[in-house]
Amino acid sequence: MPMKLTRKEQEMLNGTCGPGMQAAMEVVVKMGELYGAERLLPVQNAHIDAAAYTTIWEAGTDFLEYLVACGARVAVPTTINPVSRDIENWRNLGISEEFAMKSKRIEEAYLALGVIPTWTCAPYQSTNVPRFGEIVSWSESNAVNYVNSVIGARAERLPDLMDVCCAVTGRVPAYGMYLDENRKGELLFVLEGFDDSWFRDTVDYAVLGYHVGEIAVNRVPVIAGLPAGTTADQLKAFSAAAASGGAICLFHALGLTPEATSLEAVCPDPRIVETHRVTPDDLRDTRKRLDTAAGEHVDMVLLGCPHLSADELGQLARLLQDQKVAAGTELWLMTSDTQYQLARRAGNAQILEEAGALITRDTCLMEIDEGNGRWRGKTLVTNSGKAAQYAPAINGVRIHMAAMEGCVRAAVTGVIPRRR
Ligand code: F3S
Repeated sequence: MPMKLTRKEQEMLNGTCGPGMQAAMEVVVKMGELYGAERLLPVQNAHIDAAAYTTIWEAGTDFLEYLVACGARVAVPTTINPVSRDIENWRNLGISEEFAMKSKRIEEAYLALGVIPTWTCAPYQSTNVPRFGEIVSWSESNAVNYVNSVIGARAERLPDLMDVCCAVTGRVPAYGMYLDENRKGELLFVLEGFDDSWFRDTVDYAVLGYHVGEIAVNRVPVIAGLPAGTTADQLKAFSAAAASGGAICLFHALGLTPEATSLEAVCPDPRIVETHRVTPDDLRDTRKRLDTAAGEHVDMVLLGCPHLSADELGQLARLLQDQKVAAGTELWLMTSDTQYQLARRAGNAQILEEAGALITRDTCLMEIDEGNGRWRGKTLVTNSGKAAQYAPAINGVRIHMAAMEGCVRAAVTGVIPRRR
């Protein structure tokens, strides 16, 4: 069914606002009709996922350059995901000139479109922090889950390149999580039997997120029993893992996330909600299924999926102080340039680099490696549920999940840390 457009939106679609706006509006309207939306919503800000070359390839790059050639620009403040190279240090990562230049084309197109060059999958750590209830146009699965759930803004998982069109038009179709009726909790997870040793480290949040995602799949889970002191970084780990484990784009953590002031607030009739008990054994089982490492040797340790915050870089510096990464093992820390500069000011980036860690900025190592097979068959230790889900499929690695302290131990000893 055709959508109802305002006069301004009709002009955008007719080409009155230029061919770039018209092309973007055609995509937004067609996709909106596909989703069954009746109208468009104006957005306050945007975050674009479609930044890695291995996500949009040549055709996507051509589309961006077409928009630029038509004079299009983003209509609202817009941040953007990691690109396919560390913009300053790509040569140190063994990236070929040819591949780096493909990324550069994309970066230049986005700069011409007017995006804020954050090149991060965790824009909510700085630069792009929407208000509660704000309608935003975001993509990147962890970021959408976080902005919906932890911030309480309203976002849907926009497909790549449609996210660009939404940023250019400043409009999204009114569907999915933009609508009140779709934001209610649909199933309840009650944590039981966890003592104080649990949920201190982000890895427990990552494993719980993955576990919840696997059961909830595309529905809205409510979680009861997380500690009151849960941090933003821990909710970041949960958001990423739940999104990759089961395409979750909104969750409610009772007493923690802003819409979940009580069970009744998110589940108008809690009696009819499907309930799941979650015990330490459930999380041990989930973690065992994610762990595919065979031997004892560790080839790589990866933290920063999603990108590390300055605080996490500080925690890592304290753990790694006066130690060295083992020969034959690499320690990779992924972050944004913004968080990296904060870590430098604090002296933490220097500690980490002197210990032998490679801190990458602006990029995602898994996406860079996608398809070139250099990681195939190697053992990777990580605290990220999203990396544990994607890296075996995309990069062919074997995974061992560990807490941050265990990741550091794996890096300095080159040996798989003992399991809980
Ligand atoms: Fe970010 Fe790459 Fe992980 S984009 S969330 S570091 S897969």
